[in-house]
Amino acid sequence: MALQSIVAIPGNQQPQLVEPISPAPVSAGEVICETVYLGVCGTDREILHAATPHVPHGEGQLVLGHECLARVIEVGDGVSEVQPGDLVVPAVRRPITDLRTEGIDEFKMNRRPDMMPWGAYVERGIVWEHGFSLPRWIDRPEFLYHVPESIKEVAILSEPISVSEKAVREAEQTQAARLGASEWHDNPPRVLVTGMGPIAFAAVICCRARGWDVTVYGRDNDDTFRAGLVREFDATFVNADSLDFTPQSVEEDGFELILECTGNDQVMMQAAGLLAGCGVMVWLGASRLPKIREFDVNQIMRNAILGNHLYLGTVNNAPQDMQSAIDHLGCLNARYGMTIGKMITERVDPADSLWHYTNREPQGIKTIVCYAGLT
Ligand code: BGC
Repeated sequence: MALQSIVAIPGNQQPQLVEPISPAPVSAGEVICETVYLGVCGTDREILHAATPHVPHGEGQLVLGHECLARVIEVGDGVSEVQPGDLVVPAVRRPITDLRTEGIDEFKMNRRPDMMPWGAYVERGIVWEHGFSLPRWIDRPEFLYHVPESIKEVAILSEPISVSEKAVREAEQTQAARLGASEWHDNPPRVLVTGMGPIAFAAVICCRARGWDVTVYGRDNDDTFRAGLVREFDATFVNADSLDFTPQSVEEDGFELILECTGNDQVMMQAAGLLAGCGVMVWLGASRLPKIREFDVNQIMRNAILGNHLYLGTVNNAPQDMQSAIDHLGCLNARYGMTIGKMITERVDPADSLWHYTNREPQGIKTIVCYAGLT
């Protein structure tokens, strides 16, 4: 069967398969890519669940797919950065450069795309521009990151890893500004990652690449596949019943860096009790349709003030984070390549992919949709 696109339609929570849009002939400065693999992500599921996809202007559907490994098929005149046959990972977020941004402060428009305000950017497959669940598509070379052949089997994980890279880098840079550059260098932070999904495992990868000790908190039992995978990364797994959220001494038993990847407010509130003095908690997970709940945050505020705690939200990635993700996959390949590969828990064809856009396997981490072979 011919390869189809997976789309989200306003008012419909179910993804649909449609005939793909064919790319126009390549123009000067452009590149034609073919999708090799697509990653299915929590954001895709949330877009569908909310049933209000941000479709491109004047269109009735959004082509999904923002995590992509692609091969360059053809390049237009003047393109020298990539060549046919190269493996690439495309950037998700790009600045809008036309009149649609009228009214947005000019200085905010000059920021890096991941720091731009809503309305100033598109995200392929998420916000106002089609994604990559297409056999072929057009892009510009400045949005493509070259992937070495040595990591081709796991390079589809580059984008989610880059999101965690940004979180870790922002924590590092902020702490360096507050505490001095040598603090985390000479005295590596103890890290707690909350969650066992793809972003949590990506966070483990980013921290292990820096040589940091990592504890992962999740609801799994000790003997599950995912708990085993945490240990394969030489990290410690603690399940929900065994982590003491109110230790006697948070300085002795707490963490300098907490990477909150569940998007669950209750877990976040509990984990806050484990933040050591001058610690930082980065929020990476969020729900698109948050439930309104009431919590007593007084204690957290008091601890944050007295302990110089920092709470940081991060989204998307800077170009350097995508590059770090690709570089770290390369550095870790010898030691953890097999383990990283196990994060890909399911491979499906586009025609069989729809279930994965609305469901998850209980022990699943990343499902990939296979468009073309990796020869
Ligand atoms: C993507 C990011 C994106 C974010 C918000 C995530 O799933 O990986 O690139 O910025 O969603 O739309």
